[in-house]
Amino acid sequence: MFDITKIRNDFPILSRKVNAKPLVYFDNAATTQKPQLVLDAMASYYSLTNANIHRGVHTLSQEATDSYEQARIKIQKHINAKNAYEVLFTCGTTESINLVANGFSQLLQAGDEVLISYLEHHSNIVPWQLACQRSGAKLQVIPMLEDGSLDMLAFEKLLSNKTKIVAVNHVSNALGTINDIQTIITKAHQVDAAVLIDGAQAIAHIEIDVQALDCDFYCASGHKMYAPTGVGFLYGKERWLDKLPPYQGGGEMIAEVTFDKTTYAALPHKFEAGTPNIAGGIVFGVALDYINSIGIPAIAAYEDELLTYATAKMRAEIPALKIYGTAAQKASVISFNIGETHNFDLGTIIDKLGIAIRTGHHCTQPIMQYYNIAGTARASFAMYNTKEEIDIFVAAVQRAQRMLS
Ligand code: ALA
Repeated sequence: MFDITKIRNDFPILSRKVNAKPLVYFDNAATTQKPQLVLDAMASYYSLTNANIHRGVHTLSQEATDSYEQARIKIQKHINAKNAYEVLFTCGTTESINLVANGFSQLLQAGDEVLISYLEHHSNIVPWQLACQRSGAKLQVIPMLEDGSLDMLAFEKLLSNKTKIVAVNHVSNALGTINDIQTIITKAHQVDAAVLIDGAQAIAHIEIDVQALDCDFYCASGHKMYAPTGVGFLYGKERWLDKLPPYQGGGEMIAEVTFDKTTYAALPHKFEAGTPNIAGGIVFGVALDYINSIGIPAIAAYEDELLTYATAKMRAEIPALKIYGTAAQKASVISFNIGETHNFDLGTIIDKLGIAIRTGHHCTQPIMQYYNIAGTARASFAMYNTKEEIDIFVAAVQRAQRMLS
């Protein structure tokens, strides 16, 4: 059963006040809050287990190594990867994409094409621009439509045997659109292109099965799914991870080093140079256990109810509201503007009322250019939010609107 009272009690920050008002935290697409058991696991690791991993024969090192590798297996199971060694720990989605783009920059050549979409976060644009600059490949972009969905007919026309990789997000961080990644993967494979899915905004809200999807890469960040910042993962099919060159050189990623030549460690270590975020990795596993104790289907259904409620209430009660991103398949994100009101002013006023939303371009300037706006206000919901908080938010937006008009 989805017990919202218990869930809220699991998150200590939700009881604090901001500007003397109870916190209403609607900036979950930027980062989620952390449950007490995640905070406890972090403290417990540093209090009782702290040691470097894969390096020591001593007990602490072995315990830390076991916990870290168990966490990798938890991620493997969560996304249904075939092998644990196809799951690499990274600092987050941005590093995961850079790892793949950097590797591809050495596989691509002039005449090849990389296909991304208009809906991408800058972290799934800039690494590919760099890869294209280095290799001479051409960057192509799937256009978007007014409702914030991708133009799938244009996508099919852009695909050709020149396309070597398609890199798109599962869910748009700025608009909430859930992209039809299954069709994208299937069509891209018909021209032998690899597919990378940026799952940063999907992983806490949608069940992921990388084998069923048949994607070549899937990545996400821990901090968007109730784990700490600074840790994430990259799933890659074994054959692709074998083909890609290492991303960084250093300790742990080698088999043998001489001054003439270095041979690399087996997967996943080939891509994990240096001491990783050990505590972060272990606690990522704890956050996954927490999510799975509630269940992604229950979380998704509840968040969808919040999205439907908030969308209807905002439309009914906020004059001059414009919502950006109205695709049929949407995650719990509402990006909006109100008349001529500047989103920063709106965000600043409602912060005084204890409400946290994100304002600005959301690291998606091309989407803002498409709509010819500087930015939006964005409310994004997580499993601990409530309809009562939405009521408070709508009343606060109305108050801000009165003050600003
Ligand atoms: N990518 C994060 C967001 O959308 C930071 O807010």
